[in-house]
Amino acid sequence: MKLTKFTDPLPIPLVLKPKWKSSGYTYYEVKMKEGKQSLHSQMPHTTIWGYEGRYPGPTIEVEMGETVYVKWMNALPEKHLFAIDHTVHGAEKDKPDVRTVVHLHGGRTEPESDGYPDAWFTKGYGKTGPFFAKEIYEYGNRQRARTLWYHDHAIGITRLNIYAGLAGFYIIRDSHERSLNLPGGKFEIPLLIQDRSFNEDGSFFYPEKSKKDTSGITPSIISSFFGDTIVVNGKVWPFLEVEPRKYRFRLLNGANARFFHLFFDSGQPFFQIGTDSGFLEQPFSVHSLLLAPAERADVIVDFSNMSGKSILMKNDARTHFPIGDPVDPETTGMVMQFRVTKPLSSIDTSVIPAFMGTIHRLPESTARKQRYLQLSEEKDRFGRPLFLLDQKKWDDPIREMPQIGTNEIWCFVNTNGDDHPIHVHLVQFQILDRQPFDVVHFKKTGRIRYTGLRLLPDSGEHGWKDTVKCPPGHITRIIIPFFPFAGPYVWHCHMLEHEDYEMMRPYWILPPN
Ligand code: C2O
Ligand code: CU
Repeated sequence: MKLTKFTDPLPIPLVLKPKWKSSGYTYYEVKMKEGKQSLHSQMPHTTIWGYEGRYPGPTIEVEMGETVYVKWMNALPEKHLFAIDHTVHGAEKDKPDVRTVVHLHGGRTEPESDGYPDAWFTKGYGKTGPFFAKEIYEYGNRQRARTLWYHDHAIGITRLNIYAGLAGFYIIRDSHERSLNLPGGKFEIPLLIQDRSFNEDGSFFYPEKSKKDTSGITPSIISSFFGDTIVVNGKVWPFLEVEPRKYRFRLLNGANARFFHLFFDSGQPFFQIGTDSGFLEQPFSVHSLLLAPAERADVIVDFSNMSGKSILMKNDARTHFPIGDPVDPETTGMVMQFRVTKPLSSIDTSVIPAFMGTIHRLPESTARKQRYLQLSEEKDRFGRPLFLLDQKKWDDPIREMPQIGTNEIWCFVNTNGDDHPIHVHLVQFQILDRQPFDVVHFKKTGRIRYTGLRLLPDSGEHGWKDTVKCPPGHITRIIIPFFPFAGPYVWHCHMLEHEDYEMMRPYWILPPN
């Protein structure tokens, strides 16, 4: 299908209204429903699954420290939108096809409310998974201002549920953020960037197997999904009319597997002020931003001297990062368009702050343990590629059991050709460094021989993070403080096809001695 680019305006997800709000807490209800939405005016409507029937879901906005309860409800049809591979762990034939569970990505959430992959539930909580604990989730929001997102996390079908549309923004605000005088209100816009493919009738296309698959299984899980169309906030290649002034954009890569390396054709910079987990110490002016699946960047873009201009946000990250094909400049190489066509409605008094606050670096000496965790590619029993963490599968016994209140260094030893974005639930961490090593030697002997110097994290990675890019042939080290809850959590690659097929592990935070 040939769709004209930049014909539809960018939608901005509505902010969800609570069902109840008192001085003590706020209560929301969110129903997952099937809906029909126009994703492009030249295309028939698309059947989506969305929170409140919307793709993306409504934005939830809270204040730091506000106690929030959300009743997540499944009101989806009995039949899945996509074919389910029952050979995948947790998605066996005896499991209900339409299972959901909601994870608040980046949230400091108690285990019962974290959306453990086996805590799934079906329509009306008719059936529930073995870790299901409660219907109403509690979020303490004891975190400073930042951009989180909520999305599905059901074991074995997360890739399909998120692809169907189950994702939305969750924003924590605080007084420090307000004191910074950033562009706000209609000048602060969240951008959920994803790729999709479509059938002629406008429905989402998700492959039933990969071209190289000789397993004889149908449907058969693919090793990573790449669409041929870019969708921002649920519209294909949208445009946004802006005023000649500063805007704040909260960028979120919500793709299944695609990395985005974003830049403007005008050559103008992004002033990056924040990461996955709140503000950087100081803004960085960068001409491009690399975002792996689940990573966020908080940026200010200044359109003030651009009146009358049209500016393209483009992407040149290779499909299958970093070793895949160059992106097609005519399709996935384009993200969206900004048109500086609106008159200035008022003088822009917002600022790009010079300093947002000190971030104390965690010294390595505070770590009680250093773990080496391999990211590897193997073959499954059907000859399909299979990605593992620490050469373990989801069902293998738990190995990572940090004690609450301690710091650990986790070293991701990537022996495979993909860059895997690793996400650890509950915690925020700091990136220490990345260092190239001899993969062949490591595979033969299990010993690490470094082949180059330690690389410090990029400027935009100097803040707190919850997802870290682990490039091939490198050891990526992060330091993690484990608190404030004990209990079962998970860590995983955020390429959704990897996460669904064994590149996810449980971990357990142990209570104090
Ligand atoms: Cu964004 Cu475990 O997920
Ligand atoms: Cu991966």
